[in-house]
Amino acid sequence: MTLQHAFVDGRPRPAAGDLTALVREDRVHRTLYTDPEIFAAEMAQVFGGRSWVYLAHESQVPEPNSFLSLRVGLRPVLLTRDRSGALHAVFNRCSHRAATLCREMSGVAKSFQCPYHGWTFRNTGELVGTPWPQGYGENFDRAEHGLHKFPRVESYRGFIFGTLNASAPSVPEWLGAATGWLDYWIDRAPEGEVIVRSGVHHMGYRGNWKLAYDNAGDGYHPAFSHRSLLEMASRMGESKDMSYFGTTPDDGPMRTYLLGNGHSVIDQRPNYEGPGSFWANQRPQPGRESLEERIRAEHGEDADRLLDLCVGSQINLSIFPNLLIIGNQIQVIEPLAVDRTQLSWHATAIGGVPPEINTVRMRTQEDFPAFGEPDDQANFEEVQRGLAAPEAEWVLMNRGLDVPGWQEIGPDGVVSSAVTDEGHMRQYYATWLDLMAPEATR
Ligand code: FES
Ligand SMILES: [Fe+2]
Repeated sequence: MTLQHAFVDGRPRPAAGDLTALVREDRVHRTLYTDPEIFAAEMAQVFGGRSWVYLAHESQVPEPNSFLSLRVGLRPVLLTRDRSGALHAVFNRCSHRAATLCREMSGVAKSFQCPYHGWTFRNTGELVGTPWPQGYGENFDRAEHGLHKFPRVESYRGFIFGTLNASAPSVPEWLGAATGWLDYWIDRAPEGEVIVRSGVHHMGYRGNWKLAYDNAGDGYHPAFSHRSLLEMASRMGESKDMSYFGTTPDDGPMRTYLLGNGHSVIDQRPNYEGPGSFWANQRPQPGRESLEERIRAEHGEDADRLLDLCVGSQINLSIFPNLLIIGNQIQVIEPLAVDRTQLSWHATAIGGVPPEINTVRMRTQEDFPAFGEPDDQANFEEVQRGLAAPEAEWVLMNRGLDVPGWQEIGPDGVVSSAVTDEGHMRQYYATWLDLMAPEATR
């Protein structure tokens, strides 16, 4: 390993592979965000290796022979449904000389023909054709040259995860305490039907992928980073969306929960009271008044329930390493390089509601990525710039550590804390370290 700025506490950094010196109870070393070799190991082991990784939502591959192009770490991958509807994840990498097979983002295909020399593969990965086969000797066996495949692809209520670890626990086991939170989010749809919209809002930033994960569970920053948004909201009323982050959020009713395996959630729901309060406290969106009038006129007493479904779920659920559920959106972290990341925001519609509910949902889902996410991404880029100073070695994650009364263990064994606690970082870094450990030390 090239040791980039190779010192820890001013002394030579330990040998390659030994990352334990870089993750402490209260801090992590800057090179976790800047070292290309650590990044390369993450792409193999955190996005791959033994871990589950979020791939996509089932509504993105809706019919037999649908496919979707994505990345798992840096691996180009095709998520496919075969003709019977079963899911597969195959490497989008020709087994001949490595060209990507498919360059479309999504579509319907029973097979893929490599544009380079024409080898053809079924959407399940088998090699079915090699042009001019007389050029291969009699020992050539097509069965040996299928596409690399994920041994396990599993869906939990529409959320599809893949792993390269054939003996990984089941997805619900790995989600653990996060399962109930994901259920809450899915069950907001009256029939549990979530539909990912076909358009995606891609946002790129010049920073490490973990900066987005650090931030997703961070209840400390909104008052400062999103000040302009909060000020705009406060001009519209006392308790508008997110204003509760502005005034001593640790004293308020919000909590953050550490769910194990690197997962965590911020629960903003205790800031609201009763049916209709999600809606009543949302920032206005253009045109919403006339739609509200129509919904109230048509649905009477049921209108409050329906209008609450238009706005966000009021939880921020982080599923390690790459799935963030924010409001009504599914956000996916896609690392590109040690200092380059794409965030993809997928808006969702739900089944079992009148169409105008989904119309308002779409307007609401344009709100935060447009008004708030640029604040966050500016921070990520400025952190990355700050990390370039090699003498200042540490990034702190000690807020909430040893503060009497902050952390509590619930009856289900889940630790919760004040919403600005950085426990979510301490927790996921423990998982990260475990996944990054060389085979022999696990
Ligand atoms: S690289 Fe695909 S056929 Fe040659
Ligand atoms: Fe933010």
